[in-house]
Amino acid sequence: MFPKEVYINRRNRLKELVNSGVAIILGNENAAYNYPANEYHFRQDSNFLYFFAINKPHFIGVIDFDEGKDIILGDDFEIDDIIWMGPQPSVSELAKEVGVEYIGKYTDIYKIVDDAKAKGKKIHIVPPYRGEHINFYNDVLKDDYKKYISEELIKAIVELRSVKDEYEIKEIEKAIEVGYEMHVTAMRMCKPGIVEQKIAASVEAIPIANGGRISFPVILTQNGETLHNHYHGNILQSGKMMLTDAGAETAMGYASDFTRTVPVSGKFDQRQRDVYTIVLNANKKVIELSRPGVKYLDMHLEAARVIASGLNDLGLMKGDIDEAVAVGAHALFFPHGLGHMMGLDVHDMEGLGEDYVGYDENVKRSDQFGLAYLRLARELKPGFVLTDEPGIYFIPALIDMWRKEGKFMDFINYDEVEKYKDFGGIRIEDDLLITENGCEVMGKKIPKEIDDIEQIMKA
Ligand code: GLY
Ligand code: MN
Repeated sequence: MFPKEVYINRRNRLKELVNSGVAIILGNENAAYNYPANEYHFRQDSNFLYFFAINKPHFIGVIDFDEGKDIILGDDFEIDDIIWMGPQPSVSELAKEVGVEYIGKYTDIYKIVDDAKAKGKKIHIVPPYRGEHINFYNDVLKDDYKKYISEELIKAIVELRSVKDEYEIKEIEKAIEVGYEMHVTAMRMCKPGIVEQKIAASVEAIPIANGGRISFPVILTQNGETLHNHYHGNILQSGKMMLTDAGAETAMGYASDFTRTVPVSGKFDQRQRDVYTIVLNANKKVIELSRPGVKYLDMHLEAARVIASGLNDLGLMKGDIDEAVAVGAHALFFPHGLGHMMGLDVHDMEGLGEDYVGYDENVKRSDQFGLAYLRLARELKPGFVLTDEPGIYFIPALIDMWRKEGKFMDFINYDEVEKYKDFGGIRIEDDLLITENGCEVMGKKIPKEIDDIEQIMKA
């Protein structure tokens, strides 16, 4: 937990941003996976962590904007629970740690909601993402919960959580340190004949050994053309590339997220070198240009131009590069967005609504294939933490479909592209902190230059 003043300050700033009413910040429950007492690893809700910090199930945070009051609702454990769980802090002890003066029982939420309604106060909630939250809200509000989802609260939370303070940056750096170990381990283990799951298991053990967890299910595959490939059953083959997209989450819930792609053989062949260099140049272009005031949409388009230009040089694309990118022809190879915010969620705040986090009144989401998936497009500000993750993929089904449809024949050299259908995919992902004048690649640098990767794989 950060010092309690951090949480008091966050709640006070929220009170400055939301005019009136009562916000319910609902913590998470334990979730069963195959029978009631067999539970998933507990993950607290990130908004609850941000404002109330208590990393345990069955708590509700209430912020009364009219009375300037913060309340934590939860239940003390009985001896029957303590026998199984060991000694537990009381609700009042936990509340004190985060600077909250008022506490109540979990079921006091019914009275708080009824009182607020009776006084005509607005009740603010954020969109629930778990079934039990929907049931909880419908029950407590005695109404359709959707009517209470508050744009005012969502926007205020996004404003606060988007800019990371010094404590959060340090915590993200811890997650990055662990992410470094995960990726270097994957590089060292990668060799022909080893099954992917053996490496994936070693990668996943590292954040656990460091007191945390993975920040999302590990992607580790020699079929990197499938963007989120969680299948780890292939035996690595020489001539393929292994794509690892993985990150750590610290015990406090802060994430890292990196992708590296390496040749299974330990040495890049010419084709791999050529395509890899284009992706690396796109990743570096974004690092060079990202700074306060630029739109991440423009960074995405810069990366797309580097990719289109590189593929032109290889003979896979043709025609004018700006025109090709403007119509979205490059998206055959780069069909996803450049990156996303990162913090207490690996896709930070995505549960509040991607458009609230990554877009604003000045930048609206495109409906063009590829660009439509861009999670972060808005103007950058100091303190934003985000990912820079361009890629080039050869997706046989997409190539066949576009070719059949005769799509972008002026920009794509399909005969050449056919020759790469066995290639797979390459993504390179770093975590960036936007500073006052530019940006920095956060934390210990995971090798991404060709020579450095070959060196580490040889060792
Ligand atoms: N690293 C997985 C993702 O950003 O979607
Ligand atoms: Mn990512």
